[in-house]
Amino acid sequence: MQNKAPRGTSDILPDEQAYWEYIRKQAASICHLYGYQKIDTPIFEETSLFTRGVGKETEVVQKQMYTLEDEGGTSITLRPEGTAPVCRSYIEHGMRNLSQPVKLYYIAPTFRYERPQAGRYRQHWQFGFEAIGENNPSLDAEIIEMVWQFYKALGLNNLSLKLNCIGCKLCRPSFLDALKQYYSQYTDQLCPDCKNRLTRNPLRLLDCKNPTCQQLSQNAPKSTDHLCEECSTHFEQLKQHLNLLEIPFKSDTRLVRGLDYYTKTVFELQPSEEGSQSAIGGGGRYDGLIEELGGQPTPAIGFATGIERIILNLKRDNITIPSFPGIQVYVAHMGEEAKLKAIKLTAELRHNGIATVASLGSRSLKAQMRQANTFNVAYTVIIGEDELKNNTVMLKDMSSGQQSTVSRTELISLLISHLSL
Ligand code: HAM
Repeated sequence: MQNKAPRGTSDILPDEQAYWEYIRKQAASICHLYGYQKIDTPIFEETSLFTRGVGKETEVVQKQMYTLEDEGGTSITLRPEGTAPVCRSYIEHGMRNLSQPVKLYYIAPTFRYERPQAGRYRQHWQFGFEAIGENNPSLDAEIIEMVWQFYKALGLNNLSLKLNCIGCKLCRPSFLDALKQYYSQYTDQLCPDCKNRLTRNPLRLLDCKNPTCQQLSQNAPKSTDHLCEECSTHFEQLKQHLNLLEIPFKSDTRLVRGLDYYTKTVFELQPSEEGSQSAIGGGGRYDGLIEELGGQPTPAIGFATGIERIILNLKRDNITIPSFPGIQVYVAHMGEEAKLKAIKLTAELRHNGIATVASLGSRSLKAQMRQANTFNVAYTVIIGEDELKNNTVMLKDMSSGQQSTVSRTELISLLISHLSL
């Protein structure tokens, strides 16, 4: 029996790596521009971090965590999201003593036991960032603008941005009561999951994908009708700032998120194409999380986007990305003595910054030229008997097909100039 990558995971093969490199570079560049510094947290954490942070009643905690007991009897969980670990680190390392907000970003593998489908995996990678220690709505606007610029820099210009305010611990209870009251009239029509949500997590009733539940959500109470004055002002100011920054957003009173820590602002970006329901990225404020995890009350906001979903969208939109620089020169040889010269020359070319491969076996010249073609090199250097005798090489320009004899001593400087190195 042959092993395969576990269901919902995949290898990132060399052909795909240019996408990953492109996204990582854009991520690092936008984070630099907006003042975010990189943080890496462990791939696993104590399970209680996520049950407390993400919320016991969330789908992530209930159904999707990879949890195991280690040999020491500690329950550990593979990171299902990146916000709680960053907050844990913020508290653990006393980052409240730094200048606030502390701005951190990560690019990290994330694990959720989900039913695999296009854009939904059991291991996926998130690029996320968190700004901790500031409650002003101008920070919300700055983050949303940063997200917008990030996707724009990647070439994804057709995303739609949805925005909502889901209140705080003061005003949320009245909204939840209103939701419960509304949905209680329709319990017989709700899907089994939503029947459960009605008592355990009423907010999530609003984003059920079941058509009947979606229909019911049309007339459901709106969070924005239940906001306290502070939340309401925050939301109004955020919208003003977004208008000032010319970020097109759609208010969506049914937008809620899958993790329990959110307060006030929530937002998601979706491909505008019809039928694509999955968000490419999402985030929001979580003003209570640091305190929930044992820190001082500290407001914060963040965002994360799935790298695999970005790649799906780049491909769907036919966006060309810079390819990796390939092999530039191939060294072919005929005969054992020539092979030794070829090995030495190959090393020398590499030491001069020229990406080079040589045939290591003893295939025919024809087979070597075929291999040079598969590498798509700009030049092939051929060493045969005559070249050995005269201390020269045959240089073939692979695009024009022209061949010329070049002195061995001049070869490297000639290649450096031809390849504009
Ligand atoms: P999330 O919406 O659960 O938020 O995940 C963020 C992004 O990760 C999603 O928009 C999606 O692109 C990607 N993603 C999630 N699950 C999968 C999956 N199974 N397969 C592929 N991609 C997936 C969070 O995790 C929050 N921590 C975001 C945040 C940061 N909020 C505040 N700060």
